[in-house]
Parts: sequence; C-alpha cells; structure tokens
Amino acid sequence: MSQLPRGTRDFTPEEMYIRRYIEESIRKTFLSFGYGEVQTPTFEHLELFTAKSGQSIINELYNFTDKSGRELTLRPELTAPVIRFYVERLQMEPKPLKLFYLGNCFRYDRPQKGRYREFWQAGCELIGADTPEAYAELIALAYTILHNIGLKDFHLNLGNLSLIQALFKKLSVSVNDQKNLLPLIDKSQFDELLDALKCLGLSSQIAEEVVALLQTSDIPQIQNFFNDTPEVHKELLKLRQIITLLQQSFQIPDVSVKLSIVRGLDYYKGLVFEIEAPKLGAEKQLCGGGSYDLVGLFGGKDVPTAGFAIGFDRSILALETQNVIFPKPALDIYIIPYDETCIEKSFELAQLLRKDDYQVDVDLLRRGIGKSLKFASTKNARHAIILGPDELNRNVVMLRDMRSGEQQSIPVAELLTYLKKSRT
Ligand code: HAM
Repeated sequence: MSQLPRGTRDFTPEEMYIRRYIEESIRKTFLSFGYGEVQTPTFEHLELFTAKSGQSIINELYNFTDKSGRELTLRPELTAPVIRFYVERLQMEPKPLKLFYLGNCFRYDRPQKGRYREFWQAGCELIGADTPEAYAELIALAYTILHNIGLKDFHLNLGNLSLIQALFKKLSVSVNDQKNLLPLIDKSQFDELLDALKCLGLSSQIAEEVVALLQTSDIPQIQNFFNDTPEVHKELLKLRQIITLLQQSFQIPDVSVKLSIVRGLDYYKGLVFEIEAPKLGAEKQLCGGGSYDLVGLFGGKDVPTAGFAIGFDRSILALETQNVIFPKPALDIYIIPYDETCIEKSFELAQLLRKDDYQVDVDLLRRGIGKSLKFASTKNARHAIILGPDELNRNVVMLRDMRSGEQQSIPVAELLTYLKKSRT
C-alpha cells in the first residue's frame, strides 16, 4: 500500500479549519501593515538557489530534471523566488514595495517534531527602504503576526552581520577561518568557539572577551568593544534607533541584542533577527529574517531589501504548547427531511439559507430523525430543521436548538429573520 512520503503530512478537515483560521489572521496583519500578497511557482530553476549558496545547497533540496532536461527544484524558501519575480516584473513599481506570501516549502531535512520536508512559511520582503524605521516596522510586523495569532511566550533577538564582519577584521580572522567559526557562533557552541579562537592564536583574554561579546545583550558593552572601529558606529546607531522604535512606538518590551545570530542562509548582510518560542525545544525558531543582497545577483538594479519568514507549522505547535483552544468547524443548520416526500423542499430550503451565507447540510442517507440528530451533533450544528409533510402543508419548519434541545415551529417566511436574531 502506498504511504505518506517521509517528512510530509495529511491534514484533516479539523486541522485545515485551524490552519485556515490562523492563515486568515496572518493575512489580515500583513494587509494591515500595507503589504500586498504575491504567489510564485512551487518549483523554480535550480540555479535560482545555487547562484548564491553554491552547489552544496543541493544536498538540502528536492531537485529534479524534467522531461525536457531542465534542472529544477521544489522551492526551499520564498525569498529568492520573490526577488526573481521582482527583477522580472516589478522593478518599476513605486518604492517601498511591500510583498507578502504564504506557501509551502520543501527541504531535504531530517524530519522530527517541528522539522518537516514539506512545511509552510508566511513571510514578506520589503524592497527599497533601509531606514531604521523600515527595519523597525518590519520586525514589529513579525512580532505582531505572532501576537495576533494568540502566541504569548516568544522572544525577539536582533543581530548584525556587519558587526560580526568588523569583529573578524579586528581580530584578523581569514575568510577560511571565518567559515569554521560561523557555524559555532550560529549554534551558540561557545566552549568550542573559545577553543577555536585560541587555536587561531588569540590570547585567552581576547578570546573570552569575544565570546562574552557574542552573548551579551548590553549595548554599551558592545559599543565599548567597537570603540576603535569607526566603520560600525553608523550601524550601531541604527541598531539603537531600531530598538528605541520597537520599544517605544511599537510597544515591544522584550527586544534583545544577540550578536551570535548569524543566520544559516548565505544572502544576509547587516541587520538580522530571529524570534523563538523557548518551549519548542530543539526546533524553537519561529521566525528568521534580516537585510540581504540578491537583486544584483539576479540582474536587477541594486536596491535595499529585507524580509522575514515565519514557520507556520511551528507557530501552530507553539500555540498548542500554550493550550490554546482553537475554533472547530461547525454548521449553522442541519436539515432533516422527515420522509421522501420532503426531500425536494429540504434542498430548496438549504439553497435559500446558503444564499444568505448560512452553512447548511442536508441528510443524504434517509436514516431517520434520531440518527440524523446525532449526526448533526457530531457536526457541531447550531440548529436542526426537521421538515415533515405536516410542516410543509402549513408552510412552517420545526426548528431545533441543538444546545438546549428546544423545538419550535416557525413560519418559513419568518425563518431568516429568526435565525439572524439568534446569530447575534
Ligand atoms: P529560514 O530561517 O530558513 O529563513 O526559515 C524561516 C522559518 O521557517 C524558520 O524560522 C522555521 O520556523 C521555518 N522552517 C525552516 N525549515 C523548516 C522545516 N524543515 N520544517 C518546519 N519549519 C521550518 C528563510 O527561509 C528566509 N527566506 C527568511 C527571509 C525572508 N529572509 C529574508 N526574507
């Protein structure tokens, strides 16, 4: 028997109801910040992703050759596709251009809880603005999305790759050695980092100072460290302005600086940020983003770009750890024809109610009132309507309140008004 591919999932109607409900909240928040939705294909030319990251990224991709020999891949993320789209068709749009997306991504990851081979991202790209307020608003948007879906326990950390570059320069670390150090910094493996720095010939005191710098969120301490590095003073000032805006204008109290955030993807530069939900354990990163360079690489005219993506599936897992009560699918009305003579009228009534935006189902199995009422309960129906020949003759329906069990006969002409009243 055929089975679900490793790292993928099926979703039941109940799960899809929750996913759509959360998606709706996310869309609403993006729109409320002036972003417009875009959609790009599920697969792209392989070179879109190897252009910046090199051939090594292929290990993480679902790539394939199509029947005409084209090298393609399922998308592992949406930043490169959206920037390709921008370069091809949207460069002339007025700036800043604010684009958002919700879509599935595919990575040849080792599956575990919170890590899938097919997963969904909700993300955005801000093109043509690099003021401190542009970054502050972008970060606040990510934060607001998570807040609006009902998440409480999450933390925002800001990093800056220009500062990391300045640090390497100050310590005269070669590009090759940087490649070995970055993964240790990224994974917060500070003991190993300390050893690696000492192996590069740094004194214990300096190596310890560097490790402390990467762990502190104290801006004066960071500023102090870079006192003799004037090229990063502008970047530090920007970071301070972003933090002030986040705290004062966007009312986000818990913002930390964490210079050890260096982000896995190869296209970032300058500001980077991550949001994590501590309760999720190993896969706790809910959101990642920052400023990056891709437009030039794809043949476009240079323009500042920044964005983020929220892991949709992990956000739901984070909500579950909070024991959030999710809404359930429900019906407004379940119609039960009493016998065969009432079937036609039952469907006519269902169509009338559906036109008025009610969610209506009609018994299709002719299984009698008792069993049909039980089925209506399992479908979470608010009301049931029992339609018998007697009711039809009198132009009334028998309306049953599924919560109280009370039944009353209501003239068909008054039904819509009655239902409207009981809806509020
Ligand atoms: P990313 O950090 O690779 O960034 O992914 C963003 C989020 O997607 C992660 O924080 C995580 O929640 C979720 N995620 C990643 N891999 C998996 C997986 N295998 N299973 C479940 N969830 C996963 C990006 O993709 C960048 N494109 C973000 C960005 C947009 N940067 C600038 N603009």
